[in-house]
Amino acid sequence: MLFGRVKPLSAILATAEKKGLHRSLGAFQLTLLGIGAVIGTGIFVLTAEAAQKAGPGMMLSFVIAGFVCAVAALCYSELASMVPVAGSAYTYTYGVVGEIFAWMVGWALILEYAVGASAVAVGWSNHAVGLLHGLGWDVPAAIANADGLMARAELAFGVQMNPDIATALKIGGWINVPAILVSVAVTLLLIVGTTESARVNAVLVLIKITALTAFIALTLPVLHASNFTPFTPTGYTGVFGAGASIFFAYVGFDAVSTAAEETRNPQRNVPIGLIGSLLICTIFYLAVAAGAIGAIGSQPVMAGGAALEPGSADLTGRCAAIVAGGAIQPLVCSKEALVHVLETIGWPFIGRLVGLAAVLALPSVVLMMMYGQTRIFFTMARDGLLPARLSSVHPRFKTPHVVTVLTGVGATVAAAVLPVGKLADYSNSGTLFAFFMVAISVMVLRRTDPNRKRPFRTPGLWIVAPLAIVGCVVLYFSLPFTAIMVLPVWGVIGLLVYFAYSRSRSHVGLGILDGPEPDVQPILKPD
Ligand code: ALA
Repeated sequence: MLFGRVKPLSAILATAEKKGLHRSLGAFQLTLLGIGAVIGTGIFVLTAEAAQKAGPGMMLSFVIAGFVCAVAALCYSELASMVPVAGSAYTYTYGVVGEIFAWMVGWALILEYAVGASAVAVGWSNHAVGLLHGLGWDVPAAIANADGLMARAELAFGVQMNPDIATALKIGGWINVPAILVSVAVTLLLIVGTTESARVNAVLVLIKITALTAFIALTLPVLHASNFTPFTPTGYTGVFGAGASIFFAYVGFDAVSTAAEETRNPQRNVPIGLIGSLLICTIFYLAVAAGAIGAIGSQPVMAGGAALEPGSADLTGRCAAIVAGGAIQPLVCSKEALVHVLETIGWPFIGRLVGLAAVLALPSVVLMMMYGQTRIFFTMARDGLLPARLSSVHPRFKTPHVVTVLTGVGATVAAAVLPVGKLADYSNSGTLFAFFMVAISVMVLRRTDPNRKRPFRTPGLWIVAPLAIVGCVVLYFSLPFTAIMVLPVWGVIGLLVYFAYSRSRSHVGLGILDGPEPDVQPILKPD
């Protein structure tokens, strides 16, 4: 039977019990973990991309994306409190709707985590290059980004040459070396067993919150109401398009659910951690977006009545031409949106400090995303769906080093050659699918196993879960066409692997319900 293989929840729970990771995290630490994983490239960099898509209407985009994440988080919470084990959406789906869907979710989560990690690495690179520039040390353009490579790729795929693309070819780089460096460094840290220390995470959260608070405090007083009109220069298509991209800024809260096994009283603390971190981030994001728009304006750069596509060679070239013409760089052209706003309104030093905050804090976001990826691979290998070699644990470091290297290589290559906005959009297509499946799973489980103890019940599930489903579908179809296509293409490759390899080796299929338990580092080490 194609859809018959479901891993019994009791087996999942028994394995988790046996493993007995030390339960040390409380609600406060979980909320900090969530904020630590969430605030990153999205707000520091992609604010510019969202503005290019929606203009001031990106305020609505932030609300829409935050809302979809909130309803998805409520669904996550019910499952995470019932099934407090690693593996996140993959495990939930396995226990509820079955192996083939779980496989597809696990496969899609590779997009969320590994590709997401590369997007954050590129965001880090933007800030590292900017900071070094501020210190009088310019990274050679050829190795500072891959914009020129993008222009070449566009031409190779049949886009017509024009003066903007010619400029992008001239000024854009070939390869993003700083992004390579940070991805490799994080991979090495994960191999030797560095996961996030609770204290380091708390300090980094403080740094990020301080940076965003300073930004809000300096921009809100110089807000010009006129910068908010026209409010939706690209209409509602633009608002939803920006929402689909800025959704990336909220991704990561599900890291909290992957820490459920290490949580004290997960029934109470996981929902608080998930929803608390999301709520705090949403409030900050809205204030930051209002500050950025109000302080320097956020109208998109248009050509022929339409906004140019973020990350395209056309926009790179047009932005360079605007600056060369003596105008102030528009927000939508900046690679470090928040730093740029502060520089423009006369706070260059604070701007650089905000850049420094990003340089200090973003590697930990890369680390958490790559960590999430290794955990998913690891759980899939443990279930027999991927080769057992992938789940081997390093004898000395006690880390799943094989999957870590695999993840690191993939994320590094992607970060080296692709622009941040595209990476974030590809990551989002996978994440939206995973959230969609979680919302379905929670409803299915209410029907198929209504009497199982639910320490956290999603309030108004029959409204909340359908809203999450509709929200994910709407955002998915608001992504750019290439990002929409990434999910089905990646999914078909995944299904080929599943039928060629995994299906016949699945432990559930073979009737083995609990394999040997790994001894790996937890996500957050208590100090
Ligand atoms: N939400 C995380 C970020 O914006 C992934 O970097």
